[in-house]
Amino acid sequence: MIRPSRRQLIIAGLGLGASATLAACSGDVPVTSRPTAPFGLPEPVPPSPGQSVVSARLTARPVTLDLGGRTVQTWAYGDSAPGATLRATAGDLLRVTLDNQLPADTTVHWHGVRLRPQADGVPGLTQDPVRVGKSFLYEFTVPDPGTYFFHPHVGTQLDRGLYAPLIIDDPAEPGDYDLEWVLVLDDWVDGTGTTPEEVLEQLVADGASGTDGTDHGTMAGMDHGSMSAGRSDTPWGTDTGDVDYPYYLINGRPPTDPPVLQGRAGQRVRLRVISAASDTIFTVALGGHRMTLTHTDGWPVRPVQTDAFYIGMGERYDATVTLGSGVFPLVARPQGGRTGGQGLAVVRTATGTLPPADVTPEELDGKVLTGSQLQPDDAGRLPNRGTDVTAALRLGGSMAPYVWTINGAPYGQNEALRVAPGQRLRLDATNMTMMPHPLHLHGHTFALPNGLRKDTLLMAPMESVALDLDADNPGDWMIHCHNIYHAEAGMMIDLRYT
Ligand code: C2O
Ligand code: CU
Repeated sequence: MIRPSRRQLIIAGLGLGASATLAACSGDVPVTSRPTAPFGLPEPVPPSPGQSVVSARLTARPVTLDLGGRTVQTWAYGDSAPGATLRATAGDLLRVTLDNQLPADTTVHWHGVRLRPQADGVPGLTQDPVRVGKSFLYEFTVPDPGTYFFHPHVGTQLDRGLYAPLIIDDPAEPGDYDLEWVLVLDDWVDGTGTTPEEVLEQLVADGASGTDGTDHGTMAGMDHGSMSAGRSDTPWGTDTGDVDYPYYLINGRPPTDPPVLQGRAGQRVRLRVISAASDTIFTVALGGHRMTLTHTDGWPVRPVQTDAFYIGMGERYDATVTLGSGVFPLVARPQGGRTGGQGLAVVRTATGTLPPADVTPEELDGKVLTGSQLQPDDAGRLPNRGTDVTAALRLGGSMAPYVWTINGAPYGQNEALRVAPGQRLRLDATNMTMMPHPLHLHGHTFALPNGLRKDTLLMAPMESVALDLDADNPGDWMIHCHNIYHAEAGMMIDLRYT
């Protein structure tokens, strides 16, 4: 029997009239329950002697963006998506005032930063939501250099235009490159006839009516391969996401009107690639070049050459490249046979015509690395020591009903993980589903078995991995899938200090 693909169903939901139907079933969206104690204002942080202070103001507001000729209504920080890059040096004190001019409550989460819990931006866990028209001061020290970003931690707001890079410079780094390019990848649906909230409602409604009927939690062999034929030759399986996006963007531009990165042949460039996507794994390649991967999630790795790399939602990769002469496509190709094209930026060091929007650099089919294949630089390795406490972390769930779980229950019904200050905690993480999930930890980094530290790890279908972390940042924290639709449908759990 041929079932319509759930991706086609979502696309059908993008048309006229969809919002009326969707609004009617909004009560079906699972509500993740959290403690409701009011948090009040966090204590102010005076800078320590000699500490530099970096102050910024962030205005979250509705904007109209031009996606290469098509205008969309969305929400962003300032005037653009991504918002302006925020930059500091490791050890600095950041003081960022969020001004909420959105028609909804919001917060800011500083993804990957080992910060004090009061600044982590999780409503109900670390702060009260920032109400419409109100502001909130985020004050925290940034201890570790690296490539980060920030986004709201409320509902599916991340899948609007609310994201921007956060770059923490390393005062000790040689910086032996001539140019630095920050590339933010995104999958885009907002303002194209639907909103991320409506997409989630549609996924939940489809799951409730069983129109999909596939079960990622227990069985292989489900049939929605029609959209992904021939794409199973990757670690991520054939089913890598739930939404078929109409656009993939690099630095807010579609491939028909790509950002152009200017350089000179022979220059060394540091690429900082950030995935702000909500439901898409990308393969990233630069035509005519090999890249040397140097960092992931801010942490240094043993430099390794590759043609391409996979990047999951919330991950970051830094690479260096020596520019050739010409015009080259930098492509972010979505995994899983999506219909909406790809992300494209153009590197230009000479005259020549722009590549077409659907250009396929051969590097995409070359050697493709992923985070778990990288070796830690010795400076970034988590020191060896015994485990004090072990906890299981089992990722499960299904499309029908559209419910995603950790340890057998959705967020609010699962039990928080517990750790005492100073302990080494081992998370025995298992992906019990046929989809990949980027597992993200707040306020800490975890180490893979080879010692490589990351804060977001793309877990392949049915993969198991032991992740070690040092409980050195007391507070209440989250662990969750960085697929925003999975997270909102329950794939989250709390990590609490005792
Ligand atoms: Cu980038 Cu809890 O998220
Ligand atoms: Cu997930």
